[in-house]
Amino acid sequence: MDDVPLSKPDITDREIELVTQVLRSDRLSIGPMVERFEHLLASRCNRGHGVACSSGTAGLHMALIAAGVGPGDEVITTPFSFIAPANAVLYVGAKPIFAEICPKSLNMDPVKVEAAITPKTKAIIAVENFGNPQHMDEYRKIADRNEIKLIEDCCEAIGGRYQGRAVGDFGHYAVFGFYPNKQITTGEGGMVLTNDDRGAEVLRSLRNQGRATPGTSGLGNWMQFERLGYNYRMSEIQAALGVAQLERLDEILEARRTVANRYIERFMGLSEVVLPNISDETTMSWFVFVLRLNDQYTGVERDRIVQGLHRHDVGSAAYFPAIHIQPHFQALGFRQGDFPITESVSERTLALPFYTSLSARDADFAASTFELMIARENLSRRDG
Ligand SMILES: Cc1ncc(COP(=O)(O)O)c(C=O)c1O
Repeated sequence: MDDVPLSKPDITDREIELVTQVLRSDRLSIGPMVERFEHLLASRCNRGHGVACSSGTAGLHMALIAAGVGPGDEVITTPFSFIAPANAVLYVGAKPIFAEICPKSLNMDPVKVEAAITPKTKAIIAVENFGNPQHMDEYRKIADRNEIKLIEDCCEAIGGRYQGRAVGDFGHYAVFGFYPNKQITTGEGGMVLTNDDRGAEVLRSLRNQGRATPGTSGLGNWMQFERLGYNYRMSEIQAALGVAQLERLDEILEARRTVANRYIERFMGLSEVVLPNISDETTMSWFVFVLRLNDQYTGVERDRIVQGLHRHDVGSAAYFPAIHIQPHFQALGFRQGDFPITESVSERTLALPFYTSLSARDADFAASTFELMIARENLSRRDG
């Protein structure tokens, strides 16, 4: 592990207190803490239902099934993101249709989304990359106009806002993830929010082996199954962690904003990098701090800078490799060159250490090391 790691969870006595409370109870799964966590996040995002589950990926899988997506259908999604949304499309046997990104927001270009719609399109999965919810209103309008479902992938953007609206309030289904590198964590976990009563019932059944849920045709009988389901449940222990983290979300986001602003001020005059571009209508929920080397740098040089940071015990990673050129997507016919903006961006982006408790001193050390690695690269270019 690097001395200044890429990410780190922020756990206080409050989290330990609530987790201990669950451990001292007899209820470790399907209990009041999961309901409390669901209620807290759903009400924060103005949604009628929250359905907690085992991961963000499980949430995306269930949302696609609940949206009625299956073999032969097309789902529009981004080629530049963590791979989970594109994989989830494959889980249900549908075809991913990638829409090129906007080079500023790094989310899908709404014009490209609209252009990708065909009679087979059943849904759009829109990712709020790095905590930036820009264009969500436009995706929503495109989905409504075409009578298809918008699935909002909020895994990186909890607590963000766009045009005054909370992240999680745009999609027919809005999916959150709580892996330990996220703004708030449950160790592993996820949640789907929706206003759709029937959809929420289907999600509750899907996460619990397809069991009948109270209020549906069955009696909620434990051994009664209505559909093919999964074990995508969240435990009470995970939910306790989630409740304590969610109670502290505003404080966490504020601390992360301070770290992000420190990096931004530091790199403002650095001509070698392109800083995150945030519109006036966006309130970021800072997930990671990703910046981009300018057009003069190659992917090889970026990778050398990432390795150089690790050599100095500073965490860094290439965020994100383009999805369409991963082997199992190439096997479906996608090729290098299909999405030039995505490819060019993903060759030159990198993440610096970023977490809630990152001290000014460690952030400055990471920033200085990054500047040093760039200077080295510039030198070897001049000499080479
Ligand atoms: C955009 C996005 N979608 C989905 C996921 C999947 O979440 P999980 O790791 O909880 O399955 C993640 C992150 O991990 C993500 O960043």
